[in-house]
Amino acid sequence: MAGSSGAARGVNAAPLKIAVAGLGTVGAGVVKLLAQHRDLIAKRCGRSIVVVAASARDRTKNRGTDLSAIEWFDDAATMAAKASVDVVVELIGGAEGVARNVCETAIASGRHVVTANKALLAHHGTALARAAEAKNVALAYEAAVAGGIPIIKALREGMAGNRLSRVYGILNGTCNYILTAMRKSGRSFEEILAEAQSLGYAEADPSFDVDGIDAAHKLAILASVAFGCEVNFGGVHVEGIRRVSPMDIRFAEELGYRIKLLGIAKLTESGLEQRVHPCMVPLAAPIASIDGVFNAVVADGDYVDTIMQEGRGAGQGPTASAVVADLVDIARQRWIPAFGVPATELARLPASPMDRHVGAYYIRLMVVDRPGVFADVAAALRDHDVSMEGILQRTRQPGEPVPVVLTTHETTEAAMAGTLKRIQGLGAVVEPPCMIRIEAFAP
Ligand code: NAP
Ligand code: HSE
Repeated sequence: MAGSSGAARGVNAAPLKIAVAGLGTVGAGVVKLLAQHRDLIAKRCGRSIVVVAASARDRTKNRGTDLSAIEWFDDAATMAAKASVDVVVELIGGAEGVARNVCETAIASGRHVVTANKALLAHHGTALARAAEAKNVALAYEAAVAGGIPIIKALREGMAGNRLSRVYGILNGTCNYILTAMRKSGRSFEEILAEAQSLGYAEADPSFDVDGIDAAHKLAILASVAFGCEVNFGGVHVEGIRRVSPMDIRFAEELGYRIKLLGIAKLTESGLEQRVHPCMVPLAAPIASIDGVFNAVVADGDYVDTIMQEGRGAGQGPTASAVVADLVDIARQRWIPAFGVPATELARLPASPMDRHVGAYYIRLMVVDRPGVFADVAAALRDHDVSMEGILQRTRQPGEPVPVVLTTHETTEAAMAGTLKRIQGLGAVVEPPCMIRIEAFAP
């Protein structure tokens, strides 16, 4: 299903009326942007976009913007069903509860939905897209992935002539900020996280960010758009950044790599591989230089080759920018199936099991420096058919365990898991090995 084509400027001069559910960071930003750029947007759409209704928990809270002319609803789901609007903008958050109810209710009552809610889409994206298409309304979510970067539009529309083979990116600004600060300061994950929380850059409960879940939500959505498949969040292998140490960051630089939390989705012979975990990327790869809170997404298409978009993945302005882009499309009466092909035609791709992953690995061990340790480690690699690419050991302080770093040639995750299990059992290895996958992206 899609909006009527070419029905944009001047054809329908009635304003596009919207209801905003959630007036926090993003919701207040949307209201502010629409007010500040009212004339510019009206010119671009051929009609104005007007906020006529809103809902949040606390009616009395100062939102930093004038809401006096807006109809207030204490209950967001009632607003979604009853407000006299064309579009419901859901900016509450969460995969279940009120946010889901608002979106389902809005669609069921024939209203377009714009949302920034990646958790909701990761869990219920396919069902919501089906429902929206059955009602011939839009389900738009540019803000849900990489905030201000217009990557959904780029993949779904700008690259629509391509067969895509891979999409990957830095999808969580909090993790990228922490890894960047760890590299620049040499301080630990815990110290940098505590500082980021005190400055308000990281949530009080940072687990969705630092454990990779937020990036996994976004990756599952990107994969669906890139490969025309149902959203399969359950098929994403997820690891966060809690175990990344300053020592590994230093070794990475010495070896010509940088550690980034990436989300990577690609088609393999055994199905759709979706994984989020810390990666070693070559310093010369463009994505290695994306620092701080910035996000970047790279996509490989058979005709366009490789594209990369970078920018701010969060924050009031960038996220509101993406929400308003979706509203402008709807005001122009342009919308297409949420994931690029009709939801009923999305493929159900098998998830490629992680033990089939093929790649190179970085392994750092802490060992007691005594004769025969290297031989035992080398035997573990040999017995699992893993080929070593390089090895380095630092001089020791008397009595202290020493770090030993190995890099391997390409092997399977299953072989690597077996190797690590054996190495961990060696008496001279004093702590669990640190393993980080190497992604050899071409510069
Ligand atoms: P937020 O600042 O916590 O705002 C949430 C809003 O939802 C608040 O206004 C809150 O009301 C309202 N709310 C909560 N429960 C409600 C209920 N039961 N009924 C009605 N309203 C309710 O969150 P946010 O950062 O704006 O994020 C909103 C969405 O955007 C989330 O899905 C998030 O993942 C997504 N997103 C955010 C960013 C970002 O940079 N912040 C970036 C990309 C995507 P009160 O204000 O009255 O408490
Ligand atoms: N918490 C996210 C991040 C921002 O740190 O990137 C919202 O998508």
